[in-house]
Order: sequence, then C-alpha cells, then structure tokens
Amino acid sequence: TTTNNTSQATMQLKRKELDGYVGFANLPNQVYRKAVKKGFEFTLMVVGESGLGKSTLINSMFLSDIYNQDQYPGPSMRIKKTVAVESTKVLLKENGVNLTLTVVDTPGFGDAVDNSNCWAPIIDFVESKCEEYLTAESRVHRKAIPDTRVHSCLYFIAPSGHGLKPLDVEFMQRLCDKVNIIPVIAKADTMTPEEIQLFKKQILNEIAQHKIKIYDFPDPLEDDEEVKVLKQLKNRVPFAVVGANTVIEVDGKKVRGRRYPWGIAEVENLEHCDFIALRNMVIRTHLQDLKDITNSVHYENYRCRKLAGLGSDGKVRLSNKNPLAQMEEEKREHDLKMKKMEAEMEQVFEMKVKEKKQKLKDSEQELTRRHDDRKKALDQQIRELEERRRAFEQEKKEWEESNNITLDELRRRSLEANSK
Ligand code: GTP
Repeated sequence: TTTNNTSQATMQLKRKELDGYVGFANLPNQVYRKAVKKGFEFTLMVVGESGLGKSTLINSMFLSDIYNQDQYPGPSMRIKKTVAVESTKVLLKENGVNLTLTVVDTPGFGDAVDNSNCWAPIIDFVESKCEEYLTAESRVHRKAIPDTRVHSCLYFIAPSGHGLKPLDVEFMQRLCDKVNIIPVIAKADTMTPEEIQLFKKQILNEIAQHKIKIYDFPDPLEDDEEVKVLKQLKNRVPFAVVGANTVIEVDGKKVRGRRYPWGIAEVENLEHCDFIALRNMVIRTHLQDLKDITNSVHYENYRCRKLAGLGSDGKVRLSNKNPLAQMEEEKREHDLKMKKMEAEMEQVFEMKVKEKKQKLKDSEQELTRRHDDRKKALDQQIRELEERRRAFEQEKKEWEESNNITLDELRRRSLEANSK
C-alpha cells in the first residue's frame, strides 16, 4: 500500500504542462511516412459465372497503364477463358505511394452439368492465404509479414433482370464470412438505366432476405464536399459495370469503351456505368477499411475456426479431439483398413484359384473331346476298311467261282510255268 501511494504521488508530481515544443505531434506523420515507405499491399479477387466479363473488367481496371490514359493497349477483343485461379501483381505508384495490387482472376463457374461444390477452389484459395498468414504470424521471427490475404472480392451478377440465381445465393452465403464481398452487375450496357435501378433494388432486397453480409462501405466522418460525392458513389452499390479492352475515339478523345450501332458505352463515364465509382472506392477511399475488416473480422473468424478445429463449413474436424483419443481412432482406422485389405486379398486369391481350376477343367474337357473325336474317326476308318475288305473277298470269291479256279491255284500254276 505504501509503495502504491508513493508511486501515485510521484505520478501526480510528474503531471505538468510542457513549456516548449517537443514534437511528438509528428508521430502520426512518422507512422504515415513509414506506411508510405513500406507501401500498401492489396489483393482483389473476381468471382462469378463464366463469361460475365471478369477478366475484361480487371483488365480495364488495372492491367493496363491506368495513369497514362493515352497508352491504352490497342483494340483487342481477345480474352481467353480463365481455367485456373490466376494471380497477377500490378505495381501502382501515385504521389510517391506504392500500391502492390494483386489481382486474382478465378475460373468462371456454372458451365458444368453438376455445379455442386464449384465454390471449393475459390474458398480454398481464400483460406490458403489466411493459412499462410497464420503460419507466418506463428513464427518466432515475424517481422514484416507479407499480407497476401484476399481483401476484397468482386462478385459478378448476370444482368438477367430477374434477380439472383440460386447458385449466386449459395456462393455468396458461403463466401461472405470469409472475404469482403462487393457485388457488381456485369455487362451493365445490356440494360437500360431504369432496368438497372430496378435490378439493383431487387438484388439488395434478396441479399438482405438471404442474410448475406456484403461489404458495407462505411460513411466517411467529416461532412465536406468530397464526403457528399462519396455518399453518392456508395449509393451505387451494387455497382453496374462495363468492361472493354478496346479504345475508341470520341470527340477527338480516346476512351475505353464498347461501340454499338446506336452509340458508345464508355467504361470510365459515370453516366454510362459505375466503373469509376467502383475503382475509386476499392483502391482509393476504402482500401484501408477493406484491409482492416479483412484483418479484424474475416481473418479473426478464420483463426477462431482454426483454433477451434472447425472446417471451413463450421463442422468439427478430427484434429479437435484429444491426441490420445485421436491416436486410438487412427489405430482403429488402420486396423480396419488392414482387415479390409486382407479380406480383399483373400477374395482375389480365391478368385484366382477358381479361375485356374476352371481353366484346368476346360483343358481336360477339350482333351477328352479331342480324344473322342479321334477315336470316332479311327473307328470309322476301321469300319470302312473292313467293308472294303469284305467287298474284295466277295469279288474274289465270285471271280474264282466264275473261272472255276482259286487264286492260290492260279498263282501256283504261274510259278511252275515260270520255273520251266
Ligand atoms: P471466364 O474466363 O469464363 O470466367 O469469363 P470471364 O467472366 O472472365 O469473361 P471475359 O472477360 O472472358 O468476357 C467474356 C465475353 O464478354 C467477351 O467476349 C467480352 O468481350 C464480353 N464482355 C466483357 N465485358 C463486357 C461488358 O461489360 N459488356 C458486354 N456487352 N460484353 C462484355
């Protein structure tokens, strides 16, 4: 108690106004400078049915020089079908600030006859990145862990005008507690502005109805002009986007867009689509919040699931059991496996023996058959020979009778004649 009192007294004594400028107000600047020096890492993923323009959109967004508008790559409509999860790193630099953006393109789903479990590769990818981070965090030396976790996922909705498909609902439900989902309406140039407004409302309703937690863009704190603009941009969720990898000249200006007989859909025109709103909000205004939510909500969820020994589906994994019980279980499984193998081998052996016996029986039967055939043929031959012999005897007898002399007598006379 005495010591406590003393230390309290000392503290009270030390609390005093500073006379001069110390400079720790610069601390936030230092933190800022450090962050700026280090740069930012951000991973954006696109997910959605096949052919909705995911690759085209990320190509329009980042995979060309977005800061030098004159140097768009020339017209090229060639975008190949994505068949595996593809990560591409893009280094963006603005006012000396580096942003290492990893864009993850995923294979479109919905093509297959059986689409059950088509979310598995995507969920596996997101979780593998969390796992990498967790492993790095658990190391003794954990200086500057590279953050490759997926911070945001653009979920592409088909511009059907009929709301979400069951597969969209299932996919988003499975994904929304693992990553920040930002829904986007693909190929918005295929709908009129009124249709898009209606479609957006319908989608938001369905998302709420199915209790899907999409990323909620927080309202900015201050209330100046920029904030108003931001709020307007936020009202555009779900963003209706148009992608194009062609550059078209409009009023002497080169713009990225899609040319139709009735006009041009410009990608970077807020009156035509929400592309700019989406890009600004994701990599400018809400980048840090997306990273924070990834770390504090989704990564924490992952860590909890992992520590509790749950799978991505929330079910208990075997590893949650006590090690001895687990070993016991493994041993039981091993024994069962061995018994099964033994039974299988015995079965195979019996089968082989049976086969061999059958073969021997077959060849014995074949031999007997051949022997019988041969015997029959010989008997027949004997019968024929005997027949011929009888016929010959008969002929001989008839000849002797008609000539009144036996053949033996004839032979004897001819021998006598020869000797004379
Ligand atoms: P997967 O690789 O199968 O997942 O397809 P994806 O979603 O990556 O689609 P991709 O970017 O390959 O585009 C498919 C087709 O849609 C291409 O012919 C694009 O030119 C076209 N397309 C892309 N974006 C748009 C768009 O905004 N509007 C229209 N009308 N067509 C688009």
